[in-house]
Amino acid sequence: MFQFTTFRARVFWSLVPIFCVLLVFIGFGDFYEQKRLAEDEIKGRARSMAENLAYSGRLGVLTEDRWLLEAALQSVTGAADFAYVWIYGEKWKPLVHAPENVVNLMRLKPELDEQGKNRLSQHGEIHFRTFFAGSQKYVEYIVPVASTQSNSSYELQVELAAGGRPDISQKRQQTIGAVRLGLSMDRVDAHMGSFLQWRGWSVGLFFCLSTVAIYIFADRITRPINRLTEHAKKMSQGLLSLSIPVASRDEIGQLSTAFNEMGRALNELYLSLERKVAERTKQLSAVNEKLAEASEHKSRFLANVNHELRTPLSSIIGYARLLRRETEGQISSLQRDNLEDLLRNAERLLALIDSLLDLAKIESGKMEVHPELVQIDELVQSAVTTIEPMLNKEQIRLVCDVPVDIAPVYTDGEKLRQILLNLLGNAVKFTNRGEIKISACQVNGDFKLAVGDTGIGIDNADLARIFEEFDRGPLASEGQYHGTGLGLAIVKRLVDVLGGSIAVESEVGKGSMFTVTLLIKKSQNGSL
Ligand SMILES: Nc1ncnc2c1ncn2[C@@H]1O[C@H](COP(=O)(O)OP(=O)(O)O)[C@@H](O)[C@H]1O
Ligand SMILES: [Mg+2]
Repeated sequence: MFQFTTFRARVFWSLVPIFCVLLVFIGFGDFYEQKRLAEDEIKGRARSMAENLAYSGRLGVLTEDRWLLEAALQSVTGAADFAYVWIYGEKWKPLVHAPENVVNLMRLKPELDEQGKNRLSQHGEIHFRTFFAGSQKYVEYIVPVASTQSNSSYELQVELAAGGRPDISQKRQQTIGAVRLGLSMDRVDAHMGSFLQWRGWSVGLFFCLSTVAIYIFADRITRPINRLTEHAKKMSQGLLSLSIPVASRDEIGQLSTAFNEMGRALNELYLSLERKVAERTKQLSAVNEKLAEASEHKSRFLANVNHELRTPLSSIIGYARLLRRETEGQISSLQRDNLEDLLRNAERLLALIDSLLDLAKIESGKMEVHPELVQIDELVQSAVTTIEPMLNKEQIRLVCDVPVDIAPVYTDGEKLRQILLNLLGNAVKFTNRGEIKISACQVNGDFKLAVGDTGIGIDNADLARIFEEFDRGPLASEGQYHGTGLGLAIVKRLVDVLGGSIAVESEVGKGSMFTVTLLIKKSQNGSL
C-alpha cells in the first residue's frame, strides 16, 4: 500500500481523485444533456417543416399539379440542415422530390414501406425515425397530407328534410398523400464537437484551479500541525521552555495550548527533579565524606589491632613456648596439658587476627600486587616444609607432582604461597588418611596449581558458598574441625587480585580437588 510521508500529501491526494471523479461525472451529464437538447431542437424543426409543407402542398397533392408542388418544395429546400423531401400523392405515389439525385446520393427507396403506409392511411399518424446513411445521421418525419371535406349543400338538404338539425361545423379529414422530410443531424455533431472542445478546456482549467486550491487548502490545514510537530521535536530535544504560538481557537489551537501546558508541567518537573538530584548529590557527598572518614577510622583501627592485639599475642605465644621448653620435666602432666591448650588457643587467635587483617586489607583495595619470577618447585617445597609438622605422617602421604623443568611464573609469589598454604591447610585439616597431592603444570598459556586430597569431601549443595566469608558449611556446628570460615574467602580474593580463577571438584567421603588457574604473563624483560 502506498504510504504518504506527509499529512499534506495525504489530504491532497485524498481530495484530488474525488474532484476528478466529480468533474468527469458532471462533464458527461452536461454533454448528454446538451446533445439531447440539440437533437430535440432539430427534431422539432423537422416536424414543423414537414407539417407546414403538408399543409401548403395540399392543393398540389389534390390536383397532382407538379408546378404547385415544386413551388411548395421551395419553402424547405433552402432551409438549414435540409437533406431530402418527397411528396406522395394518391396510393402513395411519389409526386415530386428534392434534391434530384437523392436516390443515388443517399441510397433511399423512393417508395414508403407497407407499415408506414398503413399507419398513415388508417390513423393519420406522424411517422418519425433517425437513421444513418453512410457516416451521417438523419432525422426523418413522414406526415400525412390531409384534405378537409365539408358537407355538400345536397347533403344538408337531406338532413333538414329528415327533421334533424344539420351540423354545419362538421368537417371530414381525409389522407390524400404524405410528405417525407429528412434533415441532416450533421450540425448537431459539429455542435457537440465544439461543445466538447470548449468543455474540455473549461474542465481542464477548472481542474488545474481546483488542484491549486486543494493544495493551498491542504497547506493551510497542515501548516499548524507541522508547526506543532516542529515544536514537539524541539521539546523532545530538551527545549521544554519553548511555547507554541496559539493562532486559533479550533482543535489545533486547543492542542497547541495543551502542548504548551504539558511542556510547562514537564519543565517544572524537570527543574524540580534537577533540584532534587542536586540535593541528593549533596547529601550523598556528605555521606561519602562520612564513609571516607569511617574507612579512615577502620584503617586506623586495623593498624591499632595489629599493634595492640597481634604484638601482645605474639609475645604470649613466644613466652608460652619458652615456658614449655624451660619447664620440660619439671611440671605435672596436667599443667603441661594446660600449657599446650593455652598455646594452641593463642595460635588460633593469632591465625584469626591474621586472616581478618588480610581480608580487611583486600576489601579496602590496599592489597598491592608485586609480580616477580616465581620458581614454582621452590614455592611448593617451602609450603610443604611449613605444612609438614601438622601432618599425621603415618596416615597421610604428601605427594608433589611438579615437573622439574617447570618454567618460573611471573606473579606475586607471596600471594601464591598464601593461596597454596590455605588450600594445603584445609586439605590437612579435612583429611584423616590417604593422600594429599600438590600438582603444578602449564597448559595452553595457563599455569595450573592444584591441591587434591582424599578427605571428607564437600556436598554439591555447599560447593557454591564455601568461598563466602565465615561460611563453614555443615561443619559450622561441629567441634571436630576448628576454623573461621575465612581461609577460602581469602584464597578467592587473592586469586582475583592475581587475575586468575579457582575451581573445585569434590565428592563427599572421597575427597576434594581445588585448582587455581593463572594466565601466564610476560615479565617486563620479556622472560616468563
Ligand atoms: N579440602 C577440603 N575438604 C573438605 N572440605 C573442605 C576442604 N576445604 C574447605 N572445605 C570446606 O569449606 C569450608 C570453608 O573453608 P575455609 O574457608 O578454609 O574455612 P575453615 O577452614 O576455617 O573452616 C570448610 O569449613 C569446609 O567445610
Ligand atoms: Mg581453612
